Amino acid sequence: MTDVTATTSDIEEAAGVLRAGGLVALPTETVYGLGANAEDPAAVSRIFQVKGRPPSHPLIVHIGGAEHLDDWVGHVPATARLLAEHFWPGPLTLVLRRGPRVPLEATGGLETVAVRVPDHPVALALLSAFGGGVTAPSANRFGSVSPTTADHVRAELGDAVDFVLDGGSCEVGVESTIVDATGEVPAILRPGGVTREDLEAVLGRPVEVPSTSEVRVPGQHPSHYAPRARVVLVEPEKVVVEAELAQELGHRVGVFLPPGFGGAEVKAHAVVPVPGSAAAFARGLYGYLRELDQQGCDLIVASVPAEEGLGLAIANRLRRAAGPRATA
Ligand code: TXA
Ligand code: MG
Repeated sequence: MTDVTATTSDIEEAAGVLRAGGLVALPTETVYGLGANAEDPAAVSRIFQVKGRPPSHPLIVHIGGAEHLDDWVGHVPATARLLAEHFWPGPLTLVLRRGPRVPLEATGGLETVAVRVPDHPVALALLSAFGGGVTAPSANRFGSVSPTTADHVRAELGDAVDFVLDGGSCEVGVESTIVDATGEVPAILRPGGVTREDLEAVLGRPVEVPSTSEVRVPGQHPSHYAPRARVVLVEPEKVVVEAELAQELGHRVGVFLPPGFGGAEVKAHAVVPVPGSAAAFARGLYGYLRELDQQGCDLIVASVPAEEGLGLAIANRLRRAAGPRATA
């Protein structure tokens, strides 16, 4: 995390904004969230207006510690308890039975609720000062790329948010892993910052991951996390040739140059050398997509990394960015 500028008095002010029914953009270790008092249905509804998100898409309730879990959910199976104790604070979201404190506005009408404890000092300080739960989706307009700096939030949401807490750039860079923990056999609904391998090590058994095209819950549509430029995915060894061909055909091409192809002269509009480590790629991913948009690219040529460790979440986001777009 770099350049945290939020002060104690900013955190107090932001907690006051939440109490008054306002919206606060807050840093987490994954991406920035657009937060509201989870128990204030009107404030929660404003999140959907500001994001342009359909009201059926459920939100995540952020809480200050695993010890508060039972205040927000119904039955907690033993496996869910184990995961919470092991991974919180951290990039893991647990879907559990909804408790009475959570309004249906926050769950898109579902009888389950997604909960997590973010691992970021500014988010934890805000949750502690506020004292309640904060519902927060990623602080971007519906369908677009999640923000990983306070500047991204300001550029995307401007005056629509009442207060922006600046916690520097996000360490993980992709969203939390969402696990359906309502039953005794947990399943991954969205790969993210906690890897499948991490989960399997703690649970001592394999964990199921759905394919990208499978829409399991509202909010997991194939086209999501998308920049303005169209994204095309090819094999790593075809990235350069495909990019140069498209550039020759008149596109303004942005290239995600896979590790190992560094130093290649690519005749394209903009080139991003992809870092060799999955953690660094995840951290940079959304910033690169924004940057290529800003440079005026209309086409991005990339390849997906090996789908292991954090590579699974990166591949999921790239496939969704490349997914079919709604035309309406
Ligand atoms: O890392 C993150 O998870 C970030 C930071 C801000 O915490 N938040 C985030 O929120 O990515 P959002 O709203 O962009 O994505 C949350 C996803 C929803 O799209 C939905 O698919 C899933 O969580 N979700 C929420 N409640 C659910 C529920 N009750 N059952 C199944 N999925 C749920
Ligand atoms: Mg999102």
